[in-house]
Amino acid sequence: MAEGRQVTANLQKRLAELREQINFHSHRYHVLDDPIISDAEYDRLLRELIQIETEHPDWITPDSPTQRVGAQVSEKFPKVPHPAPILSLANAFNGDDVRSWYTRISKLIPAGRKIAFVVEPKIDGLTVILHYRNSVFAQGATRGDGSIGEDITPNLRTVRSVPLKIPVADSKSGSHARISGGMGAATANIPKRLVVRGEAFIETKDFEKMNKQIEKAGGKTFANPRNAGAGFLRQLDPSITAKRPINLLCYAIVDADGPTPRSQWELLEYLSAIGFPVTDIAKKFDSLDKAIAYCETWIDKRDKLSFEADGMVIKIDDLDLQQELGFVGKDPRGAIALKFPAREATTKLIDIGVNIGRTGVMAPYAILEAVNVGGVTIERATLHNFNDIARKDIRIGDRVIVKRSGDVIPYVSGPVAVVRTGKEKKIEPPKKCPFCDTPIVRREGEVAIYCPNRDCPGKLDRAVQFFVAVMDIEGLGEKIASQLIEVGLVENVADIYSIKRDQLLQLEKFADKKTDNLLQSIENSKTQPLDRLIAALGIPHVGGTVAESLAAHFGSIDEFMKATEEKLTEIEGIGPTIAASIVEWTQRKTNRDLIARLKKAGLNPKIDRATLKPSGGKLSGKTFVITGTLSKPRDEIASMIKSAGGKVIDSVSQKTDYVVVGDSAGSKYAKAQELGVAILDEAALMKLLKG
Ligand code: IVH
Repeated sequence: MAEGRQVTANLQKRLAELREQINFHSHRYHVLDDPIISDAEYDRLLRELIQIETEHPDWITPDSPTQRVGAQVSEKFPKVPHPAPILSLANAFNGDDVRSWYTRISKLIPAGRKIAFVVEPKIDGLTVILHYRNSVFAQGATRGDGSIGEDITPNLRTVRSVPLKIPVADSKSGSHARISGGMGAATANIPKRLVVRGEAFIETKDFEKMNKQIEKAGGKTFANPRNAGAGFLRQLDPSITAKRPINLLCYAIVDADGPTPRSQWELLEYLSAIGFPVTDIAKKFDSLDKAIAYCETWIDKRDKLSFEADGMVIKIDDLDLQQELGFVGKDPRGAIALKFPAREATTKLIDIGVNIGRTGVMAPYAILEAVNVGGVTIERATLHNFNDIARKDIRIGDRVIVKRSGDVIPYVSGPVAVVRTGKEKKIEPPKKCPFCDTPIVRREGEVAIYCPNRDCPGKLDRAVQFFVAVMDIEGLGEKIASQLIEVGLVENVADIYSIKRDQLLQLEKFADKKTDNLLQSIENSKTQPLDRLIAALGIPHVGGTVAESLAAHFGSIDEFMKATEEKLTEIEGIGPTIAASIVEWTQRKTNRDLIARLKKAGLNPKIDRATLKPSGGKLSGKTFVITGTLSKPRDEIASMIKSAGGKVIDSVSQKTDYVVVGDSAGSKYAKAQELGVAILDEAALMKLLKG
């Protein structure tokens, strides 16, 4: 009995805690437009609360967040009652969730009725309700609490894609908008009262541009496009909204006093025909499995969308049936959102570590309490640089937001400062290199700090990783390289070629097969051509293209090591900076010893002209430009393209065949879009290479 009472007391305590937390976060999200936890975490809290309340319905109180649809209506704006409830959507997290949704509602659908589904992106923006009277935009409101919204008409009027009068004349033909699907009569006869629902948002590229500008000006950047957009639409001076790149996509008619299409598919066509922007990736399916499969194709491609989407929406096409099905709470039964895996989560920053790049740059990384982000457990994430840490005021012990998107490595986007206990510790950039105690340096005009010691043992990891990648030594990944360094088997890259079978077998997780495979790929790498070997040495300023010229010019490693600055600058594409860097490298005793050891191990390639004239390669004759941050160093990506016969150049022009775009790509990406050059992400490039 006593035990039962204890369980009840604990559960009630948790209930109170959940309500308080949800109210707090809901206020931050809906009223302040400044959430501090991810949507996924908010959903988790809400689901936990719903579960407790479902099991104990007598504990539900009117002030529980489950009893309210949506947000509080702010006092800032006049109120607008909605002509019909502005419903939300139930969430599914995988195909099975969607199938069980359909099994549930099938029981309510008359047997034999043919069901079609329309799939649309779930735009992560701000819901807007647009009222038209006699075809003129008369009023625009936010969703508010689902029954009363806020009047933001002057702000919405500044949004270019909100039609001010419908139908909108087609700019191309000069006549009325494109009429499709037999909507001619409908466009001519638009209901006197028409209320359209859509989502206002900021496109990802506009958002990034804007944040960069804010950062430059020293202002506070926005956490994501949704908050930025919502903030602009809900502020009091419309002239500010007017300057912001806000967009719109519409997907529903909330109310009309005349006939409108009775299927979702035709409704999208109708809205488009009379001048509303609608998504161009919607599709109609005659089976649920096909609809789910289509949603799933967008999980990997979500970064291809020009806006943030947090999932796909599957809707029953027949709008009368949707209506008949009704709703549960605030969610209509006739539609469901299949959410994409969350790309952010919060966790504790336990400590920081520092990596040293090949060039000596110090890269701080976060050591995190393990957290699952989009299906992957994250324990380490980059902190970019020490300036960034200071600007965001990230402290050890903080709860931090960890993000992971596409192929980008996970990063800490900022602290959740409001939950600080006071015990958090500020992070100071090191004054000395943690690996060799050399005082660190900061170069003029750069944010990075460096360890100037060329022989710093901290650089070894990176140097080995780089060498291995360029020499294409399969089976020697980052972890194994670190393991070999840790146990002292590798002190410089030449040591890779001295590793013995017995030594490997003593290491953790090294069985016969793995050992033999690794030794074989080390052996194979000895036949790599000269340009690869030169590139793999990691000489500052010597990437794949320069290495090719050097190999073609000198023909052997011995001749290369004798090069003078004078001789080097005679080579096309090599200026004084590169020449000086090469000579500085080749003259150092440690490097000369390294080359001698590599040669002794059997690496002495002579020029292999076949690899220099990459005719017949898969990418032969194609030019590439690489921009943004990819999962591997750019040199490495360039080497891969070149070994398939492609050419890598620096600037985008009409003649460029492909632009390979990584994270935070800037002007080159924009230029490629402007010129209509084909754009590849890393995955697409890999496909092309494997092709
Ligand atoms: S349909 C009955 N379609 O997602 C109509 N909603 O989490 C229910 N949203 O509040 C909504 N894109 O504002 C629908 N293509 C789309 C959407 C969409 C974004 C928003 C909507 C809703 C939220 C639900």
